[in-house]
Amino acid sequence: VGVIGAGQLARMMAEAASAMGIELVVLATSVDDGACATASRTVVGQPDDVASLENLAAAVDVITLDHELVDLSLLGELAKSIPVYPSPTAVRFASHKDHQRRAMVAAGVAVPRHLIVDVIDPAAVRAFCESCDGVVVKAATGGYDGRGVAVAHNVVDAMALIVEFNARGPVVVEERLELLGEFAALIVTDTEGHHERWPLVRTIQRDGMCAETQFPAGLDTATELAAMELADLVASVVNAVGVLAVELFLTSRGWLLNEVATRPHNSGHWTIEGATTSQFENHLRAVAGLPLGATTTVASAVAMVNVVGHQPGDLTAALAVPGVHVHDYGKAYRAGRKLGHVTVVGDDLEGARVRAWKGAEALGTFPKETS
Ligand SMILES: Nc1ncnc2c1ncn2[C@@H]1O[C@H](COP(=O)(O)OP(=O)(O)O)[C@@H](O)[C@H]1O
Ligand SMILES: [Mg+2]
Repeated sequence: VGVIGAGQLARMMAEAASAMGIELVVLATSVDDGACATASRTVVGQPDDVASLENLAAAVDVITLDHELVDLSLLGELAKSIPVYPSPTAVRFASHKDHQRRAMVAAGVAVPRHLIVDVIDPAAVRAFCESCDGVVVKAATGGYDGRGVAVAHNVVDAMALIVEFNARGPVVVEERLELLGEFAALIVTDTEGHHERWPLVRTIQRDGMCAETQFPAGLDTATELAAMELADLVASVVNAVGVLAVELFLTSRGWLLNEVATRPHNSGHWTIEGATTSQFENHLRAVAGLPLGATTTVASAVAMVNVVGHQPGDLTAALAVPGVHVHDYGKAYRAGRKLGHVTVVGDDLEGARVRAWKGAEALGTFPKETS
């Protein structure tokens, strides 16, 4: 299996591949990329360079991705000569927020009220912003972990952000929602269309980046079922082979789709220790045409906390916390950078969270807010 990209997702895919005896070849921009240490082989090159993609294709039977910052037309060309899962058509939902919003509205999926700005029409922007209590301005392409997403509280600020983002492409302007919570559904689909779903998790973001996930999600059955129904509809629209993560907003108006990722996702890292089959293993099984594994949980609670660069970490101190599983992505330290995560599987969520935060704080993450 070839992977375009060699970050932490490819790194963890390679760990799962190794266990199953699948050779994983990663397309890395540098041999220092996180996945080079765990992959069977590395091809050095750029995801938007034809020769690099051809080098990767020559070494593998099927190609997948660990990020969506790819050139979709090149990916489409590649898909003529080798299976590419998820398909470029599916990836487009994740890589182009404008396309995703348009297609989901057309399919009847509930999404935040929004305005798609290709060419700026100041009157339309003003009218939209004035109808909202604050807006969230999003670059349609190129963003991740809150980069390319900014909140504006008035029309002047919104316009400045739109102008800035619009220089690089279309912009999605959304109503700023009062969120009751954020959640993520995770679904894996094989090449024959069979799918499995992991249970919903609650996600806690800080500065637009996922800080923590919690299982169970703490919702009543009817609310959780409604979320899964919406996620199923989204999955049928995206039609992706492999793992699909569906980020959902819970609001007083019910469930709304935030966005999708057509690959393993931060909100599914808990599945490595917390589920019968991890998202990485099932993603590989799906793209390699192998039977999917069960997505049941192995315990009644699972807490995952990201390690985001704040201060130097101490592995000994982290591993001294009972039940802590450490995942270090092998990245150079940089303040605010996602460097790893910690998972604790347990009987009760609060107990698991306390230990997961203790482990992550020992590894140098931003301290858990106590408020
Ligand atoms: N319309 C909105 N209202 C309120 N908060 C939002 C809205 N859109 C995004 N956010 C917040 O910003 C975070 C990042 O936005 P998202 O669109 O998921 O971008 P990214 O691609 O960076 O993950 C979300 O997880 C949520 O916390
Ligand atoms: Mg997001």
